[in-house]
Amino acid sequence: MLAERTTRIASSPTMKGLIAAERLRKAGADVVDVSAGEPDFPTPDHVKAAAHAAIDANYTKYTANSGSSEVKQAILARYRADYGVEYDESEVIVCAGGKQALLNAALAVFGPGDEVITHMPGWPTLVEQIKLADATPVIVRTSPEDGFALRAQAFIDAFTARTRAVVINSPANPTGALMTEDEMIRLAEACAPRGIWVVLDLCYEKLIYDPVPHNLPGVLAARMRERTIVTGSASKAYAMTGWRCGWLLATREVVAAANALQSHCTSNVCSITQKAVVAALTGPQQCVTEMLDEYRRRRDVIQALIGRDPRLRCLTPAGAFYLFVDVSALLSPAGLRTSADFCQAMLEATHVVVTAGEAFDAPGFFRISYAASIDRLEEAARRIHAFVADVDAGRYARA
Ligand SMILES: Cc1ncc(COP(=O)(O)O)c(C=O)c1O
Repeated sequence: MLAERTTRIASSPTMKGLIAAERLRKAGADVVDVSAGEPDFPTPDHVKAAAHAAIDANYTKYTANSGSSEVKQAILARYRADYGVEYDESEVIVCAGGKQALLNAALAVFGPGDEVITHMPGWPTLVEQIKLADATPVIVRTSPEDGFALRAQAFIDAFTARTRAVVINSPANPTGALMTEDEMIRLAEACAPRGIWVVLDLCYEKLIYDPVPHNLPGVLAARMRERTIVTGSASKAYAMTGWRCGWLLATREVVAAANALQSHCTSNVCSITQKAVVAALTGPQQCVTEMLDEYRRRRDVIQALIGRDPRLRCLTPAGAFYLFVDVSALLSPAGLRTSADFCQAMLEATHVVVTAGEAFDAPGFFRISYAASIDRLEEAARRIHAFVADVDAGRYARA
């Protein structure tokens, strides 16, 4: 009855936790929701003020489809300052979130017969978008033993004559792992002579805890600018998930194609959002540092609390705001069989909402978002340990 393409796409599994939490909340439960993939901070005041001013000035009409010149210049200036890369206005398009930027990239560059490599555990949308673009996803698995590191060699080993692109998310959701500059140099040196594209998802670029070199746009621009697509977003850096603004930087040809696609889908990003994003990108960056410092504090608290039980294994995330917990030591054929079972039973018993690893193609894990207050994180940890004690007591044993 429906178009064939709908059968190829699974709906976003990260939303399941939110729906379950809502159901319990409506029933009056004290839900501890540590599943959200978004900052719990409000949007900074100076950003909100810019939006109010835009409304008052009646800045409420269509803008250029690809975004106003002002917001494009703000994006270009930020990337110049942060990474030393030079793009001009014809090489940037403003999109409704990093998600649309990535979809534009996929639709502009991938097609039938193409293989596109990406990594898992990872953000499911990257795979679904490859399928939406009629290409075939090829998955490289990263491992906890190696800190979920994104290794160039693993991608290179997956190359075939049909490889069209590699999609890299660093810092990565849900592992918090980074791709190092050295690994990106190796990858770029392998991709450039083969004409393979690199699409770089920098959604969490501002959320890196230690001052490690992470100039991936610079590495790519120096070696393969013609085959590089960089996407970014205001969502996580500036606590602006609901405003819907991201961007794509690439060659003029790619941006023109993305512009044509977007012009028939959503047109320009909300004009008021664009004004707010100008304030975010060009205003004081202190708010970003303050949020990062707070996330670091929370990361350390939740990791120490969860890690008290050695069967809840978790690495220290280098970026983003997720703790990715290996719960496989608590699963068994005679009890809770999968991490999805574990998370579901924990939700029903303790009203703690986490995201099961299955959502990230990583059975055996669950993800805690520490974009939540320390109080709530402590409460989540307390309930999780109480649940584990019940599992130990055989409460979930199968008859
Ligand atoms: C890895 C990754 N990339 C991109 C996005 C897109 O976010 P947005 O569309 O809000 O910019 C997300 C959102 O959760 C994400 O986790």
